[in-house]
Amino acid sequence: MMNYLAGILLIPGWLVTASHDAPHPGLDLGKKVYLERCKVCHGIKGNGKSFAANALNPPPKNFTSEPSKKQLDQKRMIDSATNGRPGTAMMPWKDVLTQEEIRAVVHYIRKELMGVEG
Ligand code: HEC
Repeated sequence: MMNYLAGILLIPGWLVTASHDAPHPGLDLGKKVYLERCKVCHGIKGNGKSFAANALNPPPKNFTSEPSKKQLDQKRMIDSATNGRPGTAMMPWKDVLTQEEIRAVVHYIRKELMGVEG
């Protein structure tokens, strides 16, 4: 009985901690957007290996390389996804995706594909 009560009392603390660690919109939404919109060029693993990459110059960014991890901070990635990269196949997504979707997909790329924080 005491253990059961303790379990219930711990839940609010766990929820607060979880939301503190993850201030970004859900990874599920980010993954969905990535698979629907980004995978075709950046590849399922985010390493820039895709069929489309064969025809693109400059090639799609390999998010997983060490230089990319250093170069691409969260702010720059959100900006590039929002406004695109002029002169490349990386188009602006601001008229296609909501800001929440852009933040979520950048979060997914960083956490799941690049393995970096934020
Ligand atoms: C039609 C192909 C294509 C699609 C689809 C695509 N990208 Fe890109 N992306 C590129 C290319 C090409 C580059 C390299 C641009 C450059 O060298 O400046 C790039 C670069 C990037 C960069 C790095 C830009 C920088 O600041 O250096 C980010 C972040 C990015 N893409 C995010 C996304 C996201 C998020 C999506 C899906 C919503 C997406 N891309 C969909 C082709 C694509």
